[in-house]
Amino acid sequence: MDIGFKKISDFSRGILCKMLSDAYSFDRKYEDAYKEKWQENDAFFFDNLQIADKCGFITILNDEAIGFINWDPRNMPEYVIIGDNCIIPKYKGKGYGKLQLQEAIQRITKNNVKKIFVSTNIDLIPAQRMYESVGFVRLDVSALEPWQLSQNADIYYGMDIHAE
Ligand SMILES: CC(C)(COP(=O)(O)OP(=O)(O)OC[C@H]1O[C@@H](n2cnc3c(N)ncnc32)[C@H](O)[C@@H]1OP(=O)(O)O)[C@@H](O)C(=O)NCCC(=O)NCCS
Repeated sequence: MDIGFKKISDFSRGILCKMLSDAYSFDRKYEDAYKEKWQENDAFFFDNLQIADKCGFITILNDEAIGFINWDPRNMPEYVIIGDNCIIPKYKGKGYGKLQLQEAIQRITKNNVKKIFVSTNIDLIPAQRMYESVGFVRLDVSALEPWQLSQNADIYYGMDIHAE
């Protein structure tokens, strides 16, 4: 099995939204709540391919796109926020989501970033396990900044990056 990471610009408009729809297809409420946002983000990245390629990538297995991840770099070097990330159903639970996240952390860390944040929902157990397994630490809600609370997530994670 040959896993790799490709530029978003190597693919066609719509692929990010399609992969998110597939990845969240286990519960219709996600598509109902987020489809519009997924479409907007897909359009944003394909309208701004330089940003897409700098702040995200698509994971491939034997030349098939199986997932993607992106991050918001606007507060670098203070912090980066991990955005959408997913693995399509056929390939879930095989370690690829974790590999994809580790690759993203490695790329983000190269920019001397001090912290990485990510948030998720209470019923997304694989996502919680994945974040915790790469070293994200759950944040106490009382310690959150207003911008974090405005994301309306259930669970917030942070990771301190120590310069080597
Ligand atoms: C979250 C997601 C990206 C994880 O990708 P994945 O390839 O399925 O996950 P992995 O196989 O790499 O597993 C990551 C960790 O989660 C655990 N895990 C995976 N599936 C699990 C499941 N169904 N139940 C419990 N734990 C699970 C694994 O054991 C692993 O932990 P470990 O390293 O401590 O063993 C994927 O499941 C997905 O796309 N989910 C829907 C979208 C989503 O939730 N995105 C994140 C939004 S915040």
